[in-house]
Amino acid sequence: TKRKLWGGRFTGSTDPLMHAFNQSLSYDKRMYAADVKGSIAFSKALLKAQIVDEREQAEIERGLKVVETEWRDGKFIIQADDEDIHTANERRLSEIIGKDIGGKLHTGRSRNDQVATDMRIWLMDETDKVEGYLKNLLQVMVSRAEKEVDAILPGYTHLQRAQPVRWSHLVLSHAQAFLTDLSRLRELRPRISVLPLGSAALAGNPYSLDRELLRAELGFASIGENSMHAVADRDFVVEWLQWASLCMIHMSRMAEDLIIYSSGEFGFVTLSDAYSTGSSIMPQKKNPDSLELLRGKSGRVFGQMAGFMMSLKGVPSTYNKDLQEDKEPLFDCVDSISAALQIAEGVIATLTIHPDKMLKACTMDMLATDIADYLVRKGVPFRETHHISGRAVALAEQKQCQISDLSMDQWTSLSPKFTQDVMDVFNFEASVEKRNAIGGPARAMIARQVQVARKRITGS
Ligand code: ARG
Repeated sequence: TKRKLWGGRFTGSTDPLMHAFNQSLSYDKRMYAADVKGSIAFSKALLKAQIVDEREQAEIERGLKVVETEWRDGKFIIQADDEDIHTANERRLSEIIGKDIGGKLHTGRSRNDQVATDMRIWLMDETDKVEGYLKNLLQVMVSRAEKEVDAILPGYTHLQRAQPVRWSHLVLSHAQAFLTDLSRLRELRPRISVLPLGSAALAGNPYSLDRELLRAELGFASIGENSMHAVADRDFVVEWLQWASLCMIHMSRMAEDLIIYSSGEFGFVTLSDAYSTGSSIMPQKKNPDSLELLRGKSGRVFGQMAGFMMSLKGVPSTYNKDLQEDKEPLFDCVDSISAALQIAEGVIATLTIHPDKMLKACTMDMLATDIADYLVRKGVPFRETHHISGRAVALAEQKQCQISDLSMDQWTSLSPKFTQDVMDVFNFEASVEKRNAIGGPARAMIARQVQVARKRITGS
């Protein structure tokens, strides 16, 4: 008695393992609202094309809203033969409003244009949410940078102490990457917002369905111009996965910094208890699991992206069932990055910084470049000043003292251009303040970065 929606030409039934292998309802049910939305819009196009009359359209719309409510309230009862969200919703619709009307909904439509439409509707919604999470994270980062502008810490290259910078500058360096992610996410939107509906299976529909009406009803930016491409195209999924992969790489690199800085050896930051965990054996441990998971999830997201690209490669024109493999990677990736962005926001919002330890970690040799710059201002070519400053570092090393402890005689033995004011160089705050060109760590440039960042976050 039970039969598949497409069961007409079949006499045998589906192997149970094949049904399990083939079904997507267990995961695509999360698109139920998008499916209902697409179908309601579609019923309006059917009305305009006189496939259904006003009463029938109203019945379809009413029935679909019941279906949506059932899903929302957890009352939708899945039947053994339900294959995906599209067949399940249509089956249930016909139970609610009767087959005579329910059976008309799929006129001129295929699951091929339906699923591509649902995916895009769903993803646009999720993109809005993810944009919100990203903006929240950025806001927290920018506020910290603005507030904690006094803290100075070693900037590292090769993980070796290099030059002093402001903590704010470091935080904003990561924010810059996320700001570009934000722009990129906004730029993806118009390419998600291309309507497949009306393309039917591959060859378009023969009912002159008004696709402009469908576009307007569903709020898409444009209409897919080629029915074969419209049902085949999953570039919007790939692009989103690629976007998320890059954003997670940024997340991972920031997490890595904070993991290092929260270690006992550095002690620049302390994670709040809310985002740390303990050890089952070592009572003293407080581990930065949140940050490690942010780093770890980046591999997972990249894997989903690479996996789906492999699934896509070699798929012939139009729809092939391989395309059903777009869903789990996309869903998993949207879930992972949504969680990651919110966790990162919490971690950053509740972190404690230790400016004293940051400053203590700054060593005077980090000002060797400033010594070279000092001589440049006295007319010595930089290449030569670099060499002289290097010899000062070597001399201090030989005398087992800090470079700032060299005597005036020792300085003048290195270059006659050194005078008493060389001692003024050994000031981290002054060093940072000298770097006041656009993009530098000086106070005024931090303020500028904060201002520019805020504009980009709001999109103005
Ligand atoms: N569940 C399918 C998917 O996710 C829907 C499209 C099925 N179309 C078909 N011709 N079998 O891709």
